[in-house]
Amino acid sequence: MRLGLRLLLKRPASRLIARVTRSGWLAARLFGVRVRPLSDPSLYYFDVTTPVLVRVASRHVHPRMRVLDLGTGAAAIIGLALWRRHGCRVVAADINPSLVQSSRDNVAFNGAPIDVVQSSFLAGVDGDVDIVTFNPPYVTTAHGSARGLDEPYRVQWDGGAEGTSVIARFLDAIAADTRRPLVVMGVNRWHATPARLAALFHARPALTLRDVVRHPVLPVNVYVFQRTG
Ligand SMILES: C[S@@+](CC[C@H](N)C(=O)[O-])C[C@H]1O[C@@H](n2cnc3c(N)ncnc32)[C@H](O)[C@@H]1O
Repeated sequence: MRLGLRLLLKRPASRLIARVTRSGWLAARLFGVRVRPLSDPSLYYFDVTTPVLVRVASRHVHPRMRVLDLGTGAAAIIGLALWRRHGCRVVAADINPSLVQSSRDNVAFNGAPIDVVQSSFLAGVDGDVDIVTFNPPYVTTAHGSARGLDEPYRVQWDGGAEGTSVIARFLDAIAADTRRPLVVMGVNRWHATPARLAALFHARPALTLRDVVRHPVLPVNVYVFQRTG
């Protein structure tokens, strides 16, 4: 899409996305799970990348696998959706303690056998992990600040100067993890652009990029990769 048109569409699109992603009714229907009311207006049930990420991850998940829903957010929506669809084992993790508690409450509300742990990337997650799902923060700091995105939950959106600082550190964590899980990572390609992502993968030869799924309508790319080196 041409740059001018994209910039013109960005602001109204962001407003619409913010409204939609806080709808409990829609979250329950899209993901087939129950949702508790959100305790804070800064929180949301899902992100524009979440439905695409769940759909792509579902191609790889089998009932005997253990899935890590990394950056689980306020409602553990990805872990719950995959558990419901596949009956797989799930552990959920987030760096933010308030989000961990919020997700724990929603997991209990669903009666799901999912542990929610506080962890930066995989450091605090014990045991086997076959698949990691992650939709990391990818909004550039300048764009988020200009839009007045919530300061207390900056960790939800702030991807640094180019939108890729958390992604870069996550790729390093995967390149160092001896469990070698398959990773399914969703990003908004308007922020974390394909060119920047390509450079990050190019700089990490230990990671093999198996697939990039580009949604035809939503601005979402899903990267499927694994440590092979
Ligand atoms: C874009 S939100 C996605 C939330 C949720 N998965 C969803 O689909 O709506 C990114 C999440 O990653 C979490 N996060 C950021 N840095 C992290 C890190 N180093 N380790 C674990 N989680 C992190 C944030 O707290 C936030 O919940």
